[in-house]
Amino acid sequence: MSTSLGAILREQYGVSRRDFLKFCSVLASSMAISPSLIPRIAEALEKTPRQSVIWLSFQECTGCTESLTRSHAPTLESLILEQISLDYHHTLQAAAGDAAERARDLAMKANQGKYLLIVDGSVPMGNSGYSTIAGISNFDTLRELASGASAIIAVGTCAAFGGLPHANPNPTGAVSVSEIITDKPIINISGCPPIPVVITGVIAHLITFGVLPELDKLGRPLSFYGQNIHDRCYRRPFYEKGLFAEDFDDTGAKKGWCLYKLGCKGPVTYNACATLKWNDGVSFPIEAGHGCIGCSEPNFWDAGGFYRPLAVPTEGVAQLTQMAFAAGGALGIAAGVLNAKKRDHAIAEREIVSIDDLKRKG
Ligand code: SF4
Ligand code: F3S
Repeated sequence: MSTSLGAILREQYGVSRRDFLKFCSVLASSMAISPSLIPRIAEALEKTPRQSVIWLSFQECTGCTESLTRSHAPTLESLILEQISLDYHHTLQAAAGDAAERARDLAMKANQGKYLLIVDGSVPMGNSGYSTIAGISNFDTLRELASGASAIIAVGTCAAFGGLPHANPNPTGAVSVSEIITDKPIINISGCPPIPVVITGVIAHLITFGVLPELDKLGRPLSFYGQNIHDRCYRRPFYEKGLFAEDFDDTGAKKGWCLYKLGCKGPVTYNACATLKWNDGVSFPIEAGHGCIGCSEPNFWDAGGFYRPLAVPTEGVAQLTQMAFAAGGALGIAAGVLNAKKRDHAIAEREIVSIDDLKRKG
């Protein structure tokens, strides 16, 4: 039996050709790939042998792995994730101790230069003993495994930007993968945790095209992180009308009004939650009644309080927003217009506004 992904999906899971093509088309559209390339995606996924993946977990809470394993199942996205050759993942693998480490060495040698390295968690630089695997420091493990990888995917905000361990005062000296590895292609899939289909989408992209997807200035795939939550949020019409919940159980909250005044960081957070959502498209934090806390952005833990409203809706509009406040109740309308202009400009310039940018500009 062939071990290609397409064959496994067909033979073991009974996935029809029609469903498979449907998935390829969803994948293409979510990654802003031309529909004309759908047959190429299908062909690559059908024929390519299983991609060897070595997964390293450093200073993390296992939330990224939880997100994947508790993802909607059994869908094609989760099947693709299951059917990669996950040769080492110390949380999920059956082997332990020496046997696990041997499995990792074997996978490394057998796929030298070809395996994909996925990392979740940050790396402690303060004292190597803060986090070790088999008695080896995370720093040394990362350097060794990165040397034989074709590319690295930093999964979750800890691996991408340092995340929670990096929060002030950063007691372990936590750093991101890209602060250590500078000679390999790295794709950051941030989020605390990240959306599972974004991970499978990026893996499918690498298998199909053999190159990295287009990335933003923070190393994230633009197709998933190119727009902020706010621009795709279903509560946006309330924001435009200046209708804001003032408390989590007031009338506005019950009516689904905008959560901006309750600290929502959607305007400065770039992620695909508002469109892809979670649990097979069931919901996302804002739909569940809580503002976005900006979990896919660097330093979101130190960005000034989850429930404190942003000082300004987006960078560069502070003065006008204050004028709108002064005019009384016109915040939503004024900021909405300004944000629309800002959005058009950002798309044209491929400019990404981050929480850090906002903090720097006060
Ligand atoms: Fe949605 Fe938050 Fe923007 Fe309001 S501020 S529209 S809740 S993203
Ligand atoms: Fe995170 Fe905000 Fe999405 S908190 S999960 S980026 S809605």
